[in-house]
Amino acid sequence: MTVQDAATLRARRQWPMPKQAVPGAPLLEVEDLSVRFRMPGGPSVKAVDGVSFRLEDGEAMGLAGESGCGKTTTALSLVRLLPANGRISSGSVRLFGIDLVPKTERQMARYRWREISMVFQGAMNALNPVKRVGDQIAEPIEIRLGQPRGAAQKRAAELLDLVGIPEKRASAYPHELSGGMRQRAMIAMALACDPALVIGDEPTTALDVMVQAQILALLERLRRDLGLSLMLITHDLSVIAETCDRVMIMYAGRVAEEGPVRRLFSAPRHPYTAKLLSSFPNIRADRRTLDTIPGSPPDLRKPPPGCRFAPRCAHAMPVCTEEAPTEVRFADGVRVACHLFPPGAQGVVASGVAASGIGGGLVRAAALPSAGGRP
Ligand SMILES: Nc1ncnc2c1ncn2[C@@H]1O[C@H](COP(=O)(O)OP(=O)(O)OP(=O)(O)O)[C@@H](O)[C@H]1O
Ligand code: SF4
Ligand SMILES: [Mg+2]
Repeated sequence: MTVQDAATLRARRQWPMPKQAVPGAPLLEVEDLSVRFRMPGGPSVKAVDGVSFRLEDGEAMGLAGESGCGKTTTALSLVRLLPANGRISSGSVRLFGIDLVPKTERQMARYRWREISMVFQGAMNALNPVKRVGDQIAEPIEIRLGQPRGAAQKRAAELLDLVGIPEKRASAYPHELSGGMRQRAMIAMALACDPALVIGDEPTTALDVMVQAQILALLERLRRDLGLSLMLITHDLSVIAETCDRVMIMYAGRVAEEGPVRRLFSAPRHPYTAKLLSSFPNIRADRRTLDTIPGSPPDLRKPPPGCRFAPRCAHAMPVCTEEAPTEVRFADGVRVACHLFPPGAQGVVASGVAASGIGGGLVRAAALPSAGGRP
């Protein structure tokens, strides 16, 4: 995305940019983010450890990795909705160049929902069961944006229409709507304050495949029409292949590999990405020959030294258990943290491993419709 594209998208905003915004700064720049969870009478959980990434205006980034690798914690730390025992221990989260980490809870109110909003899995838990859906969407417009009640309700009706819910259903209670409709209502709520970035944490996981496809198509359309940026957390790699520009693969609280979806899925460089892709079911692959990743992710209270994937990696070398790999960036925009690619190899795609990736033919998942499976 060019600076001009970003400027065009920002010109579409309904509300002014935050006063402290730095001109020309990217939408979101996360640097060296670490999150710890305090545990009673023991070592804390290092759930996120030195994570960095960048998201441009209008861009969609997928976030994938096995259960417990820190996807939700990363997302929650952006909006500072971490559980009570969690805290950002270091790093920065710059939105339009403004670091949100030192912001007080009161100051964060300016950014949460208004600039970054979230859609969680299972809308029923997030919606208030005793409040009409239309009122729930109108409420943040009234409270956070200070709009009069009539204007807020009009906007709520427009938003329901935008996500494909007939206006007359605004008076329904959540239990009167289908699962797909409730998830649409959640998306309308997330859009209420016209945010720049929407984070979807498994937003379609609880839905059947048809409704899942509809919701994803809706997110894609909204992204295009409203110029939204999207961060999509999912175990379904084919959803990322269909919906996202870039993908970030996390393992045990760290970034293993990140880059353009097509590139990364067709020629994964990190052994973990390759395993994740080859263990992902898709409709063309024979499920009996599906790969598995031996062992399980480490205990994040005592992560192993060096590369955290080493105990499960078929390519592990002596250095892997001693030193954490340094991230290298390749000319095609992919960055990888693995000793197979030492810093000197930056941008060099001469070796067989680097040129073709180590998974060989794993693009299958990228080209196929969702199989709805979990790695
Ligand atoms: N409140 C908490 N207290 C202690 N540890 C926690 C807490 N919340 C999460 N964790 C731990 O932090 C790590 C990262 O969890 P997180 O929920 O971010 O993973 P995830 O990638 O979103 O997993 P999933 O795919 O299952 O949603 C895990 O080891 C998890 O057990
Ligand atoms: S650093 Fe070593 S153990 Fe880790 S993924 Fe690369 S080769 Fe495997
Ligand atoms: Mg999660």
